[in-house]
Amino acid sequence: MQIIIGVSEIIKARKSIKQNLKIGFVPTMGALHQGHIALVNRSVKENDITIVSIFVNPKQFNDKADLINYPRNIENDLDLLEKAKCNIVFMPDNEDIYNNYQGYQTDLKGIDKIYEGEFRPGHFQGVVDVVYRLFDLVKPHKAYFGEKDFQQLAIIKLMTKNANLPIEVIACEIVREKSGLAMSSRNERLSDEQKTVSAKIYKTMLKHTKNLKPNQKTQEIIQKIKEEIDNTAFLKTEYIVFCEQESLKPVYTLAKNTDVKLCLAVWCEKIRLIDNISLHI
Ligand code: PAF
Repeated sequence: MQIIIGVSEIIKARKSIKQNLKIGFVPTMGALHQGHIALVNRSVKENDITIVSIFVNPKQFNDKADLINYPRNIENDLDLLEKAKCNIVFMPDNEDIYNNYQGYQTDLKGIDKIYEGEFRPGHFQGVVDVVYRLFDLVKPHKAYFGEKDFQQLAIIKLMTKNANLPIEVIACEIVREKSGLAMSSRNERLSDEQKTVSAKIYKTMLKHTKNLKPNQKTQEIIQKIKEEIDNTAFLKTEYIVFCEQESLKPVYTLAKNTDVKLCLAVWCEKIRLIDNISLHI
């Protein structure tokens, strides 16, 4: 496994890859877990070369404390990537990535301003800035993203389409702990007790969406989920929304034969967790 730090080195390495080889790319911010490794495994399976980036992108942190406290564990990351048969790890530094690059502006049709975007102003612009830059450097054929960051995935798909990039953006299922808690680098910051209560988030979403019926008002379901989560020690919901899978438009009344997403953000004390499930009505 080759480790590349510099932007000029990744450009050189990319140019030296034979044209007929397929390149899979997994952008990460490190603190890797089995959710990331599932993306790497899929890329290794579907491509000739897998490139993983590790870069904690300051531009996407609206909360400076979150940036400072974001878990970092490079040795373990490299060990996991080596075992997963990753070919190249790109670990740039901030100055190099943003040298002579201001970011990428594109019309995100407002989907960067709702839900996560409302509570994390500037977050998605930061994600677009770095992913566009990384796509430009790595020039992958396929790029892999986890569905836990469902809104991020929709935004990256839109950015890729707007920019006409010849990259297939691939959504990969959420990987969960045995308890049901969605895997996330931020889980490293949870105590054992907090991990146990946080598992209630997924369970509560499932419990209140078991018997959904057409014409049901989503606000009633949201209210039940919110009450149950907010009545659990440590947990406080930030938002809960039902939305359309593609457009992300909010869904107020469930319609027969439609697919919807139930998305939420919950604070477990100082740690913000997000999750979502897909539902067919
Ligand atoms: O999902 C993440 O880890 C980050 O948002 C990403 C896509 C690597 C961009 O920094």
